[in-house]
Amino acid sequence: MSPFQLTRTLPADATGAALRADVLHGLTRSPKELPPKWFYDARGSELFEEITRLPEYYPTRAEREILVSRSHQIAAATGARTLVELGSGSSEKTRHLIDALLPALDSYVPVDVSQSALEGAGEALLEERPGLRVHALVADFTHGLVLPPTVGPRLVAFLGGTVGNLLPEERREFLRGVRAMLVPGDSLLLGTDLVKDEATLVAAYDDAAGVTAEFNKNVLAVVGRELGADADPEDFEHVALWDREHEWIEMRLRARHALVVKIPELDLVVPFEAGEEMRTEVSAKFRQEGVRTELAEAGFTLSHWWTDEEGRFALSLATVD
Ligand code: SAH
Ligand code: AVI
Repeated sequence: MSPFQLTRTLPADATGAALRADVLHGLTRSPKELPPKWFYDARGSELFEEITRLPEYYPTRAEREILVSRSHQIAAATGARTLVELGSGSSEKTRHLIDALLPALDSYVPVDVSQSALEGAGEALLEERPGLRVHALVADFTHGLVLPPTVGPRLVAFLGGTVGNLLPEERREFLRGVRAMLVPGDSLLLGTDLVKDEATLVAAYDDAAGVTAEFNKNVLAVVGRELGADADPEDFEHVALWDREHEWIEMRLRARHALVVKIPELDLVVPFEAGEEMRTEVSAKFRQEGVRTELAEAGFTLSHWWTDEEGRFALSLATVD
């Protein structure tokens, strides 16, 4: 069997139907909003990779630092034979973990909505590790995720701080769903960005080169291509702000002037007032006690908490109760 297998677990047109439902719901409510998973077409995935190399965007470097120093400890603590990674993207940092888990590792199961990211990552990984078995899943990790049969113990990794892109209620449901896929002896490795000073946080989401602004506006290109919407990115301004009460960064697109977006596929006309803002992402920042509590509520016990030297980002290892 080929060492690379890719399965689309979504029924035909599930993506289109989900996008139509999200756009219809999000653009007819007040305030307007769109879920962040629609950033990630092929161009959005490329832009995210560019973000990870920006001087202002510290989370990727901080998490890589932890993985470089702790992967062997994670391998010893979990003894994982299957590594499932949710929202795996380029799997770039994950190679430290994969290398620590080999040779006991039987298979790596990256899961992502971005097929182009999964194909690129699979190819790059297998070039360097021909013995590795990769079974990539094009799937939405928030809806009906079903894993292929795999050998235990399983380690589910959710890196990058992507858990922070879920709203609190979505996080609760998501963590319960992950718990339901696992059995005692399996583990969860969770990356979370940490609360810090506002200037550092806002700069990470509003970089000087404007890459995050382009990433944010990419959602307009996705809705344009898939649903025929005529939103012009030039008509919108990128906004990143720190919400102190919720302890999350919010990205928004602000209409520069009054305008109307036509969405023929939905038979919808969406008016924006001058200055009106549409939320496109939250990126929650965490504290250790909050992570411990959320994990416990989902049926996990926090066993290890590691941060980078500067204490900017944390990796939590949790066992299944
Ligand atoms: N884990 C990588 C990538 C983070 S970017 C890192 O740490 O650098 C977030 C990734 O999650 C993207 O690749 C995006 O396509 C994927 N993603 C976002 N929402 C998703 C969802 N609901 N289901 C599956 N994948 C999702
Ligand atoms: C994928 N996720 C953790 C990123 C974040 O930091 O919330 C997405 C991102 N949004 C803007 N820059 C990066």
